[in-house]
Amino acid sequence: MHVPAARIVFSADDRAEIASATNEILTTGALTLGAHTKDFEAAFATAHEAPFAVAVSSGTAALEIILRSLDVRGTDVIVPTNTFAATAFAVLRAGANPVFADVNPDTFALSAATVAAALTPNTRAVVLVHIGGLIPPDVDELVRLCAERDILLVEDAAHAHGGRHAGRAAGSFGVAGSFSFYPTKLITSGEGGMIVTSDPAIHEAALVYRDQGKAGFLGNVHISEGYAWRMSELHAVTGKVHLRHLDEFLATRTRIAARYDAAIDALEGASRLRLPAGDVNNYYKYIVVPRPGVDRARLKKELKERHGVSLSGEVYEAPLHQQPVFTGYAGGALPVAEDICARHVCLPLHSDMTDAEADHVAASFAAALTSLDLDGAA
Ligand SMILES: Cc1ncc(COP(=O)(O)O)c(C=O)c1O
Repeated sequence: MHVPAARIVFSADDRAEIASATNEILTTGALTLGAHTKDFEAAFATAHEAPFAVAVSSGTAALEIILRSLDVRGTDVIVPTNTFAATAFAVLRAGANPVFADVNPDTFALSAATVAAALTPNTRAVVLVHIGGLIPPDVDELVRLCAERDILLVEDAAHAHGGRHAGRAAGSFGVAGSFSFYPTKLITSGEGGMIVTSDPAIHEAALVYRDQGKAGFLGNVHISEGYAWRMSELHAVTGKVHLRHLDEFLATRTRIAARYDAAIDALEGASRLRLPAGDVNNYYKYIVVPRPGVDRARLKKELKERHGVSLSGEVYEAPLHQQPVFTGYAGGALPVAEDICARHVCLPLHSDMTDAEADHVAASFAAALTSLDLDGAA
């Protein structure tokens, strides 16, 4: 059996609907900021119980717009060192200074303790990233720390479509949340992003920023330094159709993750992240941490070549403070992130995965770990 690293799921009906809508969009010429964008925003807001949602051209743009709306220029913004470069790029482009913080090994994300260790007198905001789709179960402590110090909490929820903790949706823990619709994400529009917020001021500012800082779509009065951050109608209709499957995708992913959980718990040499009862992890990534000493490259090679299983990309392979582009922003060592980034792997998990595929992945993973151990002992 061959299990690919990722599979993007659009049914024949979805493709037909998108094709027909594309025909209509090209016929009418209503190509941007039209009815499909409004529908997509409304459906996304409903799914995340958000008062406002604004569709934009990417997840990076969504985060930059939030940070610009908060005017963090000249301040320090704490970001986890374990995140995608775009998190820190958005901070830089919004005119702030990224300060890298370590992460909690149980969640791969920031915690109150790791943020406290990174605070500076000039800290204005914190960007919490829900790694792999998991809203950190200790998020309330971070919310409290930020509130006590009058620091703004922003969620980079690029991974976390449909995620929930204690009955609340991703994007509702801070002042605003940004989502990505990049092709590998749970819901995709090809390219795209979404801002969710309950703050009318951020909502208004985001509408202006995404369309070249214009006070209104039809006018030509520019009131802020915006950009071409609009989402096209072709992307919006794709995202709108895909979003209808969110609950079904979550159910499949939860079912497969439960199979993986049981398989990993039965192994000696690997551990996994834990989810509180009642919470929803969308398992954008299913993270496994093999014991220290396991050669990740060899494990991946063995899985692919002997078992036909391609692992999904890591989150993340290297922490940002060790990336060449951020050399000027790196402080000292951030040992937890350095360790988990170097060791973890992500099992493939698709929104249409079968139990047979999951069982093949789990059995292959166990066999590959054992074979590496045997090689090591020889
Ligand atoms: C954590 C994180 N933040 C931001 C982004 C940026 O999203 P996009 O690629 O849509 O700009 C990504 C995505 O790919 C991401 O994984």
